[in-house]
This record gives sequence, C-alpha cells and structure tokens, in this order.
Amino acid sequence: MKVLVAYISKTGTTEEIAKRAGEILSARGVEKNADIEVTPLDTVGSLQGYDRLILGSPINGMKVLPQFKEFIGAHVAGSGKPIDLFVVSYLFERGRKVWKNAIRKDLEKIRTLAGASSVEIFGGRLPGPLPTFARFIFGTPKGLPLDIRDWGKIEAWAEGIADKM
Ligand SMILES: Cc1cc2nc3c(=O)[nH]c(=O)nc-3n(C[C@H](O)[C@H](O)[C@H](O)COP(=O)(O)O)c2cc1C
Repeated sequence: MKVLVAYISKTGTTEEIAKRAGEILSARGVEKNADIEVTPLDTVGSLQGYDRLILGSPINGMKVLPQFKEFIGAHVAGSGKPIDLFVVSYLFERGRKVWKNAIRKDLEKIRTLAGASSVEIFGGRLPGPLPTFARFIFGTPKGLPLDIRDWGKIEAWAEGIADKM
C-alpha cells in the first residue's frame, strides 16, 4: 500500500507536523508493508498509485490556504480514496469564539468536499509575538507561547491512522 502525506506550509510548522506523522507511519508501515511518501502538496501531480491520503494545511484568514482547497476540489473530490485531513491553527483553541466558529465553518466545507469523515485541528506556531491590538482582536492571552503545538496529540493522531492502514 502506498500512503501520501502531503502538506502546504508557509513557515514550516505544518511541514514539521507532516514529517513527524510520516516518521510514525513509516515505523508502523514496516509491519503493514506500507510505503509512506511525505512531500509538499505542490509536488503532487496526480493521486494515481496512492491508496491512502493524508493532507495538511495551515489556517490563514480563518481558512485553509486556497491552493489546498483547489487541490482537494481538483484531485480528491470524488476519488473515493481514504483520506485524513489536518489543519494547523493558532486561534482555534486560544482565540475568540467568533474565529473558532469561522474556522469550523470553513473546515466543514473542506471536509465535505474531500469526502473525509473529520478534520484534525492542531495548535500551531507564530513567527513572532502578536502586537497588542492583534491580541485584542483575536482574543489570545498575553504570554501564550509562540509554539502551541501539542506533539502528544499529533503523535496519537498519527498512531490512529497507522492503526487504520
Ligand atoms: C499571515 C498569517 C496569517 C494567519 N492567520 C491565521 C488565522 O486566520 N487563524 C489561525 O488560527 N491562525 C492563523 N495563523 C497562524 C498559523 O496559521 C499557524 O500558527 C500555523 O502554525 C502556520 O503554519 P505554517 O508554518 O505551516 O505556515 C496565521 C499565520 C500567519 C503567518
């Protein structure tokens, strides 16, 4: 079985998560005879030959990146391939409810388009501290670490996918 882990990443956070998931799946893939490929989404021309898909995008402007949605619409929708989606967001857990709801709304569209059963949402990382006015608008607490990734959650998610392979 061939498994594709493909990601879009602007500042490396989603890439690191995809690579960690790839390591876990590769370790578990040995016993299941699965071949795991981890690559940026823009290197993927066709999904032919892949038996399972894992696709990830950061959240920007309360949405997945446009290229992510385009790729899903063009290649994944209707393919019937088993798929796991993940997104990386700084505000989903730690921002105002209005932003959480906006992100949830976009993800529901993406999930339906992809034919996925759910979308996993991970905390992400900011390149630098938010200015006070932005913290106010987004509702993020003062002193929140720049990197709020929960590696335990990420690893448990990847293990769960390995169980399904
Ligand atoms: C320009 C920009 C816009 C962002 N917009 C959002 C947003 O609307 N909602 C959110 O939850 N996180 C937002 N973030 C946070 C990141 O998406 C998130 O923390 C993630 O880790 C970035 O992933 P990447 O390094 O793979 O690009 C934004 C970050 C940047 C740099």
